[in-house]
Amino acid sequence: AAGLTGPRLFGSAATGELLTSEIPLPAPFQVPLPIPAVLASVARDADADRYEIVQRPAIVEILPGVRTPIWGYQGTFPGPTIESRSGRTTIVRHRNELPVPTVVHLHGGRTPPEHDGYATDLVLPAGGRYTAHAGKHDPDARLSHGARDYVYPLQQKASLLWYHDHRMDFTGPAVYRGLAGLHVVRDDEEDALPLPRGDRELPLVLTDRAFAADGSLRYPSVDQTLSSVPGVEEPYVEGVFGDVLLVNGAPWPVAEVSATRHRLRILNASNARRYDLALDPPPPGGGSFTQIGSDQGLLAAPVVHDHVPIAPAERYDLVADFGRYPVGTEVTLVNRLGTGTMAHVMRFRIVRSGVEDSHIPDRLGEIEPLDRARATVVRDFSFRSGKVGGRHGWTIGGQPYSPTRMDARPRLGDVEIWRFVADLHHPIHLHLVHFHVLSRGGREPGPYDAGRKDTVDLRPGEAVEVIARFDGYRGRYTFHCHNAEHEDMGMMANFETT
Ligand code: C2O
Ligand code: CU
Repeated sequence: AAGLTGPRLFGSAATGELLTSEIPLPAPFQVPLPIPAVLASVARDADADRYEIVQRPAIVEILPGVRTPIWGYQGTFPGPTIESRSGRTTIVRHRNELPVPTVVHLHGGRTPPEHDGYATDLVLPAGGRYTAHAGKHDPDARLSHGARDYVYPLQQKASLLWYHDHRMDFTGPAVYRGLAGLHVVRDDEEDALPLPRGDRELPLVLTDRAFAADGSLRYPSVDQTLSSVPGVEEPYVEGVFGDVLLVNGAPWPVAEVSATRHRLRILNASNARRYDLALDPPPPGGGSFTQIGSDQGLLAAPVVHDHVPIAPAERYDLVADFGRYPVGTEVTLVNRLGTGTMAHVMRFRIVRSGVEDSHIPDRLGEIEPLDRARATVVRDFSFRSGKVGGRHGWTIGGQPYSPTRMDARPRLGDVEIWRFVADLHHPIHLHLVHFHVLSRGGREPGPYDAGRKDTVDLRPGEAVEVIARFDGYRGRYTFHCHNAEHEDMGMMANFETT
């Protein structure tokens, strides 16, 4: 295909990627940054907004001139963005026209258990065959045939959520093939702030992928669990890493911007890769980013960073002030690789001046404090490699995932402290609740731990304490490592609010 030249610009042996593309890759900064389409509702009544999404195979152009088969929500990657008002019920009918069962989880949503996407609550393919053994892992699984209505009350603050596949043992391959999209929640508190908006608010979904010679996505299995092939030593234990960086599904894209503040709402939707984001060149005087929000919405006050590390499933709400550069500057969003080297993510081309109508107030959101004294229960969980079914896998508290084992039973409304310790990097995500980081490595939370979180990145050997109120709904939920391959290889557990 025309225009495909250039070196592989992303990653190296040092970053640990295991899959390389077998196809010429495009030069960076050629493809305009796409913005995922906002999904139109099919009905709005007094109580709820209704949406419909078809999960289906599609062939899309990710690399210029190359046809790539995906599995997509509405046949797109990322899927369409859903925009909701806080406190207004959103109902999404998902119809499964894929050849496999699926599960939809709204990541970061405060969702009743039957709509949360428990890993065995399958939506079986429309007209498909899986029925006979679909419930074999879990007698309590809530199966649906062909389609399911997911009901989201969204009793929560403005935040950048995302929806993605969550089937037990198959989340990695399903998300890698394209089953992920954004769900933005807005509210009056955030709307009242003079933040950049309109085309100065850019969602940036980061993923890494590798491409086979025929244009398809490379993944070490087709639709097999990584851990279920007897006798096969699986080399992808650390997770699947690609050598092409996609932003909103486009390789190393470019965006033309005005010399004004822009709000960058960043999601790391990669299966296993973490990034350390910075601007190159940095603005005069440094401080590339002003962080205004984290996983679960606005911080109490802005925090200035030179660089921002982001693990799988984390979100950062950042403001970059392109007004600090002369018009004509090309600013690259880079991934710092730790050895003084940087890999490209995307480029901002500052092509015009603009009227600045935003600023960042000193006070942002109201954050309810959760202090140690309120906690009634402390629980400990270790996240480690271990044997799963006789082969290498990942465990929580020494045990691989079972959908029928309950690992914690918080009382509804109680505040609990959960202490995590890890052998390696693991981004840990709790469903239903948001939490605050109480301590990291026995010390105060770090510069990136501010605000309400739903995913916290554990570093090797480091203990992290989080505190959460387990309120909202009674029922069973999961918590897990959000390295999708670790999750599929056992690193998931359950809790039940009672
Ligand atoms: Cu983003 Cu349990 O998942
Ligand atoms: Cu992990």
